[in-house]
Amino acid sequence: MEYKFSDRVLTLKPSAIREIFKYAADPSYVSLSAGNPAPEAFPSKQLAAISAKLMEEEPILALQYSTTEGYPPLLQHLKEYMKSSRNIGTEDDGVLVTSGAQQIMDLFTKSILNEGETVICEAPSFIGSLNDFRSYKAKLVGIPMDTDGMNMEALEKALETEKNVKFIYTIPNFQNPSGITMSLEKRHRLYELAKAHDVMILEDNPYGDLYYEGEPLPSIKSFDTDGIVIYAGSFSKVISPGMRVGYAIGPKPVLAKMTVCKQGQDVHTNIWSQVLCYRFMTEYDFDAHLAGLRKIYTKKRALLLDLMEKHLAPYITWDPFNGGLFAWCHLPKGVDMMEFVQKALEKKVCVVPGTAFLTDENEPCDAFRINFSTPTDEQLTKGITLLGETIREMVEK
Ligand SMILES: Cc1ncc(COP(=O)(O)O)c(C=O)c1O
Repeated sequence: MEYKFSDRVLTLKPSAIREIFKYAADPSYVSLSAGNPAPEAFPSKQLAAISAKLMEEEPILALQYSTTEGYPPLLQHLKEYMKSSRNIGTEDDGVLVTSGAQQIMDLFTKSILNEGETVICEAPSFIGSLNDFRSYKAKLVGIPMDTDGMNMEALEKALETEKNVKFIYTIPNFQNPSGITMSLEKRHRLYELAKAHDVMILEDNPYGDLYYEGEPLPSIKSFDTDGIVIYAGSFSKVISPGMRVGYAIGPKPVLAKMTVCKQGQDVHTNIWSQVLCYRFMTEYDFDAHLAGLRKIYTKKRALLLDLMEKHLAPYITWDPFNGGLFAWCHLPKGVDMMEFVQKALEKKVCVVPGTAFLTDENEPCDAFRINFSTPTDEQLTKGITLLGETIREMVEK
């Protein structure tokens, strides 16, 4: 049969990351291409204890259908915790528990974007979100990144010249893929610009708690007195991505529409996982757990920086990354990025080509992404050493 796909998905392609995963799954390759938490970062003992008790004492709670909005105690706890610890959420905001933050991108876009309308995003940006926006036939406009976040002149110009801008998508903390953090000044400026142009903001913050240098900055949502920001939170990087629990905090009418859309997608987020998240947050010291994660990744990041200084400098440079799971590396002039990635693959090390994260994959790009959370210290050392050999062979030939 000749399958006739919808116009919405006709031009969607499997992501370049997935293609590279084919090699990454082969144990003879060193993979620096994933974005997974470190295996030692999972609180598996605590989750096993909560899960066993839950099955023993309240199996029906975990096994029965539940409500679309989310497990009520988790909703209430998130509301209080995010307000008291992050100053996020007003009386006019609600909370919706989702199947990972990825579902927020989908539900929000489905709820507010018409075909052909514009989404302004960072360039580069998270491929999973870009593909989701594309599936609703959004026009994507990428704003170049400075080392302190989106270039505000370019953003202002885009808001003035682009027609039908529906929302601005930003990952202000330790952005995926660039590792860049938006300065406080730019967060305020972005908010003011969005407000002035009557445009919403989708603030995606899966990495905000993973900071390794300096103090965390306030989220854009924390100064949202006008109801224009949807905040996307996730437990994927701080508890477990396999549990698929995320949460949106935003204006109640928008969340109500997203809830209706969610009913048609998955009815509700896995209730077993939601109960586990709630009990892990309330029966254990969650803030101490976050501090433990920062300790694990601070060490890994320090090792990566050491290795990069030793093997990649001076040819390869990188943007500042004070948190998160990624480093964004720039190749010297004259070195073709795809050729570099291919040669690295021949040496059995996988990184992600930067073009995968652009709104237009055909644009020139001198960068690639390294992940430092998943590999062991030995794998990281081997991988960066091989990348160093690759660049030296290309430049010094
Ligand atoms: C910036 C960003 N947003 C959203 C997601 C999706 O996360 P989740 O596992 O919560 O769906 C990811 C996952 O890597 C991400 O990097």
